[in-house]
Amino acid sequence: MTSDFPLYELSEEHGLLRETVRALADAKIAPKAAETDETAAFPQAAYEALIQADLHAVHIPEAYEGVGADALATVIVIEEVARACASSSLIPAVNKLGTVPILLSGSEDLKKRYLSPVARGEALFSYALSEPEAGSDAVAMRTRAVRDGDHWVLNGTKRWITNAGVSDYYTVMAVTDPDQGARGISAFVVEKNDPGVSFGALEKKLGIKGSPTREVIMDDVRIPADRIIGEEGTGFKTALATLDHTRVTIAAQALGIAQGALDYAIGYVKERKQFGKPIGDFQGVQFMLADMAMKLEAARQLTYAAAAKSERRMLGAAEPDLTFVSSAAKCYASDAAMEITTDAVQLLGGYGYVRDYPVERMMRDAKITQIYEGTNQIQRVVMSRALLK
Ligand code: CAA
Ligand code: FAD
Repeated sequence: MTSDFPLYELSEEHGLLRETVRALADAKIAPKAAETDETAAFPQAAYEALIQADLHAVHIPEAYEGVGADALATVIVIEEVARACASSSLIPAVNKLGTVPILLSGSEDLKKRYLSPVARGEALFSYALSEPEAGSDAVAMRTRAVRDGDHWVLNGTKRWITNAGVSDYYTVMAVTDPDQGARGISAFVVEKNDPGVSFGALEKKLGIKGSPTREVIMDDVRIPADRIIGEEGTGFKTALATLDHTRVTIAAQALGIAQGALDYAIGYVKERKQFGKPIGDFQGVQFMLADMAMKLEAARQLTYAAAAKSERRMLGAAEPDLTFVSSAAKCYASDAAMEITTDAVQLLGGYGYVRDYPVERMMRDAKITQIYEGTNQIQRVVMSRALLK
């Protein structure tokens, strides 16, 4: 049997893309990663470097002034940026998360109006599903949108919104019919400058400190009726269909963080001497490295398979197991990243525990990948439901 596809390998373009992003991230993003963590300031210089290289929102199709990169290319970009600085990797990742609802369900007019500024690097886009009382149980949201003539009026508070305050645009899920449960939720585009929009204080976080996390508070926010994304009552489906694609990008972020920690640990164990020889000569250390690299490679294969499915779904294929595989990739890669970064700290001994070395930051950054875009318990709920249905 002969094949007419490349036998299970990245295309030359994907390989070249990785080299390009790694060079940019090493030169322009990695040197500021510790400072970004220390100051908890939005990584503006990284954002500008990504814009210059057209890497800040690569998934946006050419029809809307984007570069039209496929899902695997988007994963590679996020992975390589995260290898240098996890906070910065949330720029391309959350631009994708915020805009996929429009790509999946938005009108042509919304696509033209809102995707092009993001593609041009003039605006960032956030995604607002979670609320103080509705995290894992997202259907329990209370934010209300009420129709008033040619407008919708939104009231409520979204919590934990990544890049809130920095982003110009927000995909906001809100209840339009309280009697319909998930089918009574609709999605809207809300702009930062809409009267009645304000932001909570910056959360003081364990990791990804350069990525602002704030509440988005809506107080009688009046938006034109055409800012609804898709039909009324379809917002929850759009929100979850979006996560089917973007949990893959969180897996990519986890891979990048883990790769950064593994690379640093490998370099360190070759240099650090105890008992008269490099600690990398000890089999106890070598076996730890082998396990770290094995888990990382397994996570990468699963993530790339999920990205391929995500791309085929975007192109119109059914891909019925995308929900399972994207959840599995996010869950597996984030658990692997937590283990690998923790082991990297261990391999540096006392030096791993202090801020003079990057691995403790990577360990703190890895933790969030087990929590957001659905905790890993919720991923297991999603996977087991897919298996049992
Ligand atoms: N695609 C499309 N529709 C879907 C779907 C999917 N993957 N999964 C479920 N649905 C539909 C269902 O068919 C159902 O619709 P109908 O009533 O019309 O049949 C509706 O959505 C409700 O589904 P469920 O009955 O399964 O809902 P549930 O309340 O039992 O729970 C859940 C669903 C899986 C637990 C979900 O609430 C969930 O994923 N929670 C986690 C929330 C989450 O991931 N938040 C991430 C926030 S973003 C973030 O964190 C940002 C960041 O990283 C930077
Ligand atoms: P809870 O839902 O209260 O969960 C608490 C614990 O209970 C967890 O361990 C959970 O796994 C467990 N649990 C809950 N239900 C079950 C169950 N059925 N079975 C087993 N265990 C269960 N949201 C957005 O909408 N947009 C964003 O941009 C965004 N960015 C974020 C950035 C950061 C830094 C953080 C911390 C969060 C962000 N989130 C965002 C929210 C994130 O998705 C939620 O924090 C997450 O979904 C969990 O919700 P919760 O915090 O309310 O925890």
